[in-house]
Amino acid sequence: MGRLAVVTGSNKGIGFAIVEALCKKFDGTVMLCSRDLERGQKAVDVLKQKGLNPVLHQLEISDQNSINKLAETIKNEYQGLDILVNNAAIAYKHDATEPFVKQAEDTINVNFFANLDVCKTLFPLLRPHARVVNLSSSLGMLKQVSSPEIRTKLSNPNLTEDQLISIVKEYLADVKAGVHLDKGWPQTAYSTSKVFVSALTFIQQREFNKDTREDIVINAVHPGYVDTDMTSHKGPLTIEEGASAPVYCALLPPNSTKPKGDMVWCNSKIVDWQSLESVE
Ligand SMILES: NC(=O)c1ccc[n+]([C@@H]2O[C@H](COP(=O)([O-])OP(=O)(O)OC[C@H]3O[C@@H](n4cnc5c(N)ncnc54)[C@H](OP(=O)(O)O)[C@@H]3O)[C@@H](O)[C@H]2O)c1
Repeated sequence: MGRLAVVTGSNKGIGFAIVEALCKKFDGTVMLCSRDLERGQKAVDVLKQKGLNPVLHQLEISDQNSINKLAETIKNEYQGLDILVNNAAIAYKHDATEPFVKQAEDTINVNFFANLDVCKTLFPLLRPHARVVNLSSSLGMLKQVSSPEIRTKLSNPNLTEDQLISIVKEYLADVKAGVHLDKGWPQTAYSTSKVFVSALTFIQQREFNKDTREDIVINAVHPGYVDTDMTSHKGPLTIEEGASAPVYCALLPPNSTKPKGDMVWCNSKIVDWQSLESVE
């Protein structure tokens, strides 16, 4: 039975470099997912020229039908999933002219809810010893939230997915009411979305710990400040450097106990998500 790794949003940027590294290091098929098949095929062609052999699959994470089709392919052709890297995300630029309510809704819908839909659909296919990586950010650290009350809610060690979804909805309501900054939410919708992704990751590990399938590990990763379209190429790290910590977490050996349900920095070290100090 062949092993399978899936990387979402991997036609470019850090996701592309994660696919390239997994093609070299992972003993199995690596699926390069792209919402646009033409862009995906171009990315696959670049890797094929390097002698690598990723498999292309269409995936728009905001479209449940598209996620379902990927799940069908995984079930029918691979019978299970060994690595899932939730990499796809969006970020509005600082000079974006869209109203903040739209920016917040779009960003939370893609970065939080669509990634959650991918998890809900694909987690049942994970095999024992599977590794899941959620791409978070330094902007997804708890200290980005200035409100101590919201920080307390988000860092509750018994927080459930449903409770987290209620908090996410509370954020969107505060944005609509124009009071999100007064309430102590982060400055940007992107930062808030990544705080939620981090909080979700810790909940998901607690759920995996109760799962009958043994040794499923999930971590949230800050890949570093990377030279990609998302950062308008301002980040100093190459995409290969940005892929390093996600790939480390994707390839954690069987029965590893650390990192597990942790926040992992770009140097592959665990950081305290709740710390209010600088971790760099
Ligand atoms: N770059 C950094 O410095 C940095 C720092 C911290 C965290 N991160 C995180 O690292 C991850 C990768 O970032 P990046 O800098 O490589 O970004 P990027 O260059 O903008 O690439 C993002 C990828 O996600 C895809 N995507 C966006 N929305 C999607 C959707 N709805 N469905 C499917 N695919 C979608 C994009 O596809 P299209 O090409 O079709 O748009 C693209 O392949 C993100 O989660 C980001 O938040 C990046």
